[in-house]
Amino acid sequence: MTAPITPDLVVTGGTVVSHDGRRRQDIAVSDGRVVAVGDDLTTEGVRTVDASGLLVLPGLVDVHVHLREPGMTEKEDFASGTSAAAAGGVTTVVDMPNTNPPVATAERYQHKLDLVKNRAYVDFGLYGMLDHDNADEIGAMAELGAMGFKLFMGQTTGDNRCPNDAAIFRGLEAAADADLVVGVHAENDHLLRMFGDRLQAQGRRDPRAHLEGRPAFVEVEAITRIITMATEAKTKLHIHHLSTAAGLGRVVDLRAQGHRVTIETLVSHLFLDESAYDAYGNLIKLNPPIRPAADVAALWAGIERGDVDVIATDHAPHTAAEQAETDVWKAYGGFIGVETMLPLMLTAAAQGRLTVEDIVRLCSYTPAKRWSMAGKGQLAPGFDADFLLVDPEAEVVLDQRDLHSKHNITPYDGWELTGSVVATYLRGGLVYEKGTVVGEPTGRQVRPQSASAGVR
Ligand code: DOR
Ligand code: ZN
Repeated sequence: MTAPITPDLVVTGGTVVSHDGRRRQDIAVSDGRVVAVGDDLTTEGVRTVDASGLLVLPGLVDVHVHLREPGMTEKEDFASGTSAAAAGGVTTVVDMPNTNPPVATAERYQHKLDLVKNRAYVDFGLYGMLDHDNADEIGAMAELGAMGFKLFMGQTTGDNRCPNDAAIFRGLEAAADADLVVGVHAENDHLLRMFGDRLQAQGRRDPRAHLEGRPAFVEVEAITRIITMATEAKTKLHIHHLSTAAGLGRVVDLRAQGHRVTIETLVSHLFLDESAYDAYGNLIKLNPPIRPAADVAALWAGIERGDVDVIATDHAPHTAAEQAETDVWKAYGGFIGVETMLPLMLTAAAQGRLTVEDIVRLCSYTPAKRWSMAGKGQLAPGFDADFLLVDPEAEVVLDQRDLHSKHNITPYDGWELTGSVVATYLRGGLVYEKGTVVGEPTGRQVRPQSASAGVR
């Protein structure tokens, strides 16, 4: 018999919420890992965290952030972006490769690792890019711990030339060999350029033109094509930021035919609809765009039915000057969101749109499983002690000046929210408490561990 491990930290008195239920329980932590979950684990002389009256959640895993290193640090960097994550209860981020230069080779992947290590306040996985000619680099990036590979089928921020179908297929095969997820931005590049040119020729400059230039079928076509190819290549496929009712319907149909794919919706596609263009203009320009209310309702219905696997943020910072651009064709797509995801989702829970258990499943448990992050997504013995103290009843008026990004401009400024993050712990260490990011940047690289069993 092995002697029981003496904890160095016990979280007491809170209600622990997992992906499938909640219970009043204590959590014992030793050396950054959960060693026990049970009743009354307080131990003489051991540091306690009093969670009375609060919910205790596993740290969220946001699989879609753009922290802009290297080359775009005027927008955000790893220190500021991961500070925002810590303040938002996100303890693991997966960072996107559409940087300058794009992270499309093993050499650049290693360079990025060297650049960001020791500067992150939360743990991080790094995607590589699936480029127009880099299938030979995929295996080497996998060796360096790539969390997966991002494929841009449609143009967005950065020099991400969209690969043709042959290049895509070669990349899918290479990713399948490495047993890693390919995450896709699914929009047909040729079509959206053509529609954009047409609207520009008509003299359109207004924010809504962006929506008109990216109709739903542009997404549906790309989804259909990539699922068809990934099935053939036997690649684990994830569709990032699926945004339309028609796109969701196509995924449901293809799943019924035996295709396997996970899908993500963005917080912004759930909380903003077409009417927001009048209020926020180009600040809410996003690729894919903020959609009509009927699409938003379909995404919520998809969450309720269990068709949506993951919710993420697409935290996509730009400078304050860039966000103020009034010509829609010059404006960038994307805005910040990693810090506001949980407060918004808790507000939806307070309104009865989903449960806090659903939030844990969609924003922590399933992403950790899908990307094979051993130790993340659950508060159970052997898992990392990444946890949050959450007050689900706190009434907060969101003030963007409190946010931790380099440029803290958000459409949610002034929104009345219910629920807030009181404190965030990364592997047992406090990283955020009551408005302030604390301590040293102790975030580490998370590498995928094994095939992601059990998801789709
Ligand atoms: O609007 C967007 N902005 N969509 C994306 O897919 C990328 C992002 C960015 O990097 O700015
Ligand atoms: Zn993105």
